[in-house]
Amino acid sequence: MKKFKRTTVTAALPYANGPLHIGHIAGAYLPADTYVRFLRQRGEDVVFICGSDEHGVAITLGAKKEGVSPRQFVDKYHHLMKQAFEDFGIGFDIYSRTSNPTHHETAKEFFTNIYNKGIFLEETSDQYYDEQEQIFLADRYIIGTCPNCKHTNAYGDQCEKCGTSLSPKQLINPRSTVSGKTPVLRPTKHWYFPLDKYEAWLKEWIVEGHKQDWKINVYGQCKSWIDQGLQPRSITRDLDWGVSVPLPDAAGKVLYVWFDAPIGYISATKELKPAGWEKYWKDPETRLIHFIGKDNIVFHCIIFPAILKAAGDYILPDNVPANEFLNLEGDKISTSRNHAVWLHEYLADFPGRRDELRYVLTSISPETKDADFTWKDYQQKVNSELVSIFGNFVNRVMVLTWKYFDGKVPAEHELPATDERRKKILDHYHKAHADLNVSVKEMIRALQDFRFREAQFQLMNMARIGNKFLADTEPWKVAKEDMEAVGCILNYALTIVGNLAIACDPFLPDASRNIKRQLNSSSFDASWKQFWIKEELINAIPQHHQLGQAELLYKNIENEEIEKQIEKLRRTKMENEKSAPLVKALKPEITIDDFSKLDIRIGKVLSAERMEKSNKLLKLKVDTGIDQRTVLSGIAQHYTPEEMVGKQVTLIANLAPRKMMGIESQGMILMAEDLDGKLRLVFPSEIVTPGSTVS
Ligand code: 2FM
Ligand code: ZN
Repeated sequence: MKKFKRTTVTAALPYANGPLHIGHIAGAYLPADTYVRFLRQRGEDVVFICGSDEHGVAITLGAKKEGVSPRQFVDKYHHLMKQAFEDFGIGFDIYSRTSNPTHHETAKEFFTNIYNKGIFLEETSDQYYDEQEQIFLADRYIIGTCPNCKHTNAYGDQCEKCGTSLSPKQLINPRSTVSGKTPVLRPTKHWYFPLDKYEAWLKEWIVEGHKQDWKINVYGQCKSWIDQGLQPRSITRDLDWGVSVPLPDAAGKVLYVWFDAPIGYISATKELKPAGWEKYWKDPETRLIHFIGKDNIVFHCIIFPAILKAAGDYILPDNVPANEFLNLEGDKISTSRNHAVWLHEYLADFPGRRDELRYVLTSISPETKDADFTWKDYQQKVNSELVSIFGNFVNRVMVLTWKYFDGKVPAEHELPATDERRKKILDHYHKAHADLNVSVKEMIRALQDFRFREAQFQLMNMARIGNKFLADTEPWKVAKEDMEAVGCILNYALTIVGNLAIACDPFLPDASRNIKRQLNSSSFDASWKQFWIKEELINAIPQHHQLGQAELLYKNIENEEIEKQIEKLRRTKMENEKSAPLVKALKPEITIDDFSKLDIRIGKVLSAERMEKSNKLLKLKVDTGIDQRTVLSGIAQHYTPEEMVGKQVTLIANLAPRKMMGIESQGMILMAEDLDGKLRLVFPSEIVTPGSTVS
């Protein structure tokens, strides 16, 4: 394997359009943080880069929905995410943001550099435009009928029912998801990156070059993309929020968010190390690793590397250990349905329990397939693993050392095997030592290979072996007769504790600090580094060293705490169900005679005015073909009087007159009530003569 001098680790820049949830954490940030901690423990040169992704339509539409400017919108979520990451202890070297000037400059430089090489294509084409919202619509924001399976809510890029890849123009009856209106086609000029020209190179680099070392899910997705053939991708958009296209004829155009976002990793490194950033991105002796979720694979493995290649001088990712998705209580995590465990809420509800969430998320990490987080499982894993195995071992050793040796590390002896019991103790010691070293090596191998679940399992195995060693050697019984042997047992048990403190740093950093404090280890902490280098247990604790006070590392999660969380999710689900639009049930059957009693005819609204003291009623004068009459209609919140004048309406003309607010209404106008309660007029598809009947 190639030796590298340093490592650049990036974690996907999260969109600044909502708070972070456990799916984000399990997907990218926790594995990245675990890996970086591991590298730092080994004393490697590493930078850990992240920041907020603040551009794109998702941001502008989110801002619109909240009634604020995009700037106010991203400010709010950037600070919320930054704080939550910090509070959770994710140790980025920098958490930047793509709205920073350094990023805008860097992204523009990238564009200009590639543009000047004549690589981009320039093309004017018709694209869907929402006239009401005055925006060009991204593919995802257009829905319509799938030409393949006739599903009525297919997206402009894909039909989720039959899986067909689509382009918006293939949709039948396209609608804008932003305004609900039918979009129109408008010509617009954009710049395209010719991904097709990089196909052969990508094939060689990924399909042939990374078959062995990239994860199967990552490799498989890349191969399937490349096998399907690559197309030029537009890298600009018509939008007024983002990095403006640095060309004279490009007013109102910005770089596509997926063009500028990964460049954000580079801009953030520049901010972190203004003088020394280049070696982290351009030196072939630097290893670049991107931690992402599976929805980002194509951008990090195909598009961004091709852009780096086009720019020249840049290193390419050495590995992209993408995770699958995390579900919650058997259901997809959903921001819009609020079906999520939000990181900032977890931290508020479970103060001082960061390790617990780290532990559970790593132990169910969706490394090879989607995984499910449940609160019951969280409780079970904390109580029966972290508390009962890990915490319990450390505490027993500390308490026993205080009990028998006043908290002073007992002398380490070559214990002469003078009797059967001593012989057995020595056998247990040799066995434990051999098993521990196997676990240490396995753990380090797994960390190197991005198999964090397995690595953490091996860490727990070390604690299990420690517990077994105590159970097998029974120092509390030996203490009645052979204190020298007890000293020997506890000296070794303390060695295990010390090594656990070091080994657990990548996974359980709070426990690592806490155990070091209990061991009062600052004077000899430097020696632990050998653990990671030699990949075996290190004996660093001096004889007669005075320990600190024993303290429990973890406490049980009580049923009530879990039930509260489950209840919270249940309540949200119920609220969602309550507010979900309901199609009304069918009314009882009627006969044709019942129907024919209705005189339904088309009228034309001659005049309309609001009714005084009513915010619901409009007073309409309607030409019914046989007369001109007054009709009161409860549509004032849905149509203005101006909108109504001249409209054709459908009227029940023989309904008994009814007096409302002192005025007689002679008939009723038919309306369609949308599922959200909105009223829309019902009228003939073409103009007909007033008085025409409906049957
Ligand atoms: O999927 C997302 O949340 C994107 N904002 C990730 C961007 S990663 C990188 F390219 F910046
Ligand atoms: Zn379809």
